Amino acid sequence: MASVSVDEAMRRAIELAARGLGTTSPNPVVGCVLLDDDGQVVGEGFHAYAGGPHAEIVALAQAGQRAKGGTAVVTLEPCDHTGRTGPCSSALVQAGVARVVIAVPDPNPVASGGAATLRAAGVRVDLGVRGEEAEAGNVAWLTSMRRGWPYVIWKYAATVDGRSAALDGTSMWITSEAARIDVHALRGTVDAVLAGVGTVLADDPRLTARNLRDGSLAIRQPLRVVVDSSGRTPADARVRDGAARTWIATADEVGADPDGRVDLTALLAALHQRGVRAVLLEGGPRLAGAFLRAGLVDKIVGYVAPRLLGAGPTALVDAGVSTIAEAIDLEFVDVTQIGPDLRITALPRKREG
Ligand SMILES: NC(=O)c1ccc[n+]([C@@H]2O[C@H](COP(=O)([O-])OP(=O)(O)OC[C@H]3O[C@@H](n4cnc5c(N)ncnc54)[C@H](OP(=O)(O)O)[C@@H]3O)[C@@H](O)[C@H]2O)c1
Repeated sequence: MASVSVDEAMRRAIELAARGLGTTSPNPVVGCVLLDDDGQVVGEGFHAYAGGPHAEIVALAQAGQRAKGGTAVVTLEPCDHTGRTGPCSSALVQAGVARVVIAVPDPNPVASGGAATLRAAGVRVDLGVRGEEAEAGNVAWLTSMRRGWPYVIWKYAATVDGRSAALDGTSMWITSEAARIDVHALRGTVDAVLAGVGTVLADDPRLTARNLRDGSLAIRQPLRVVVDSSGRTPADARVRDGAARTWIATADEVGADPDGRVDLTALLAALHQRGVRAVLLEGGPRLAGAFLRAGLVDKIVGYVAPRLLGAGPTALVDAGVSTIAEAIDLEFVDVTQIGPDLRITALPRKREG
């Protein structure tokens, strides 16, 4: 078998890491490739679920004796602490690995320090290989660990003229089945799905991750959160159907903003405390406006249907913009056709000051 460069091995490790997206929270996604001293791949692994073996341990188990003198290529700095599993830094030292190549350092103060431990044991450590790519694959976890609240993705569906419903309020279904299947896949990658009580009262959504063809539930369900200042969610609302965990987040429990509504910063901090690292904000327009006004949205995923309505509610309400100079500027990072619709992915640009 041909030998593999460290760069190629890191590309593969990043691919492996992505397989854990949606199932590792509150842990990061991590991939690892072990090369022997001839550059042959002797082990591969990824972190599949919280509490399960770390990527390095899976790869070491595959490699056995062949890890000795080899190179471990890992997307995130190996952990240095005993949590639900032992420290990966020690496991690498014990296996006799000679070199460890890391894409991104671990920002989690509890687990970091693996690189120092490895160096102290005489292992050569290189940092930063394909760092940007690995960072992008772990962006939700890294962002939430660095600042202490979850990564927020706002998702909406609209017509080309930005309408989320017709004048008479009918909105089912603005986008195609293909787009809705894509949304369910997106739900499967996050830890919590958020909706305002306005959406719950108007549409009575389930907010579960499902197979749309047969209605079956995905194995792992995000926490359903209704942002509901005074507890108006009806007792028989579908979000209370027991199909997944649900939190009706009231102002009494979370804390109130100056208008007496749920304080969104406190809400995100509370979710972080519960181990939530990535949140999908599913609306509606008023809650999305409040999140954007507060600068709490990290990514926007818009499904745009090839239709026009010319009247009716818009996908976003009151985002704190009253003049063009205050517009929330975005950077498009991806545009993909999903069935007849477009999926537009954009990042809000950081505001000055
Ligand atoms: N096209 C789409 O992508 C999409 C997605 C979802 C919904 N929708 C549509 O949106 C419509 C509902 O819109 P909506 O704007 O009434 O619903 P919403 O944004 O889901 O809910 C708004 C409500 O959230 C509560 N809330 C709690 N804390 C808040 C805070 N800090 N800031 C703002 N709101 C807070 C408020 O009620 P309290 O003060 O009582 O707490 C507020 O009235 C429905 O017709 C639905 O079909 C469209």
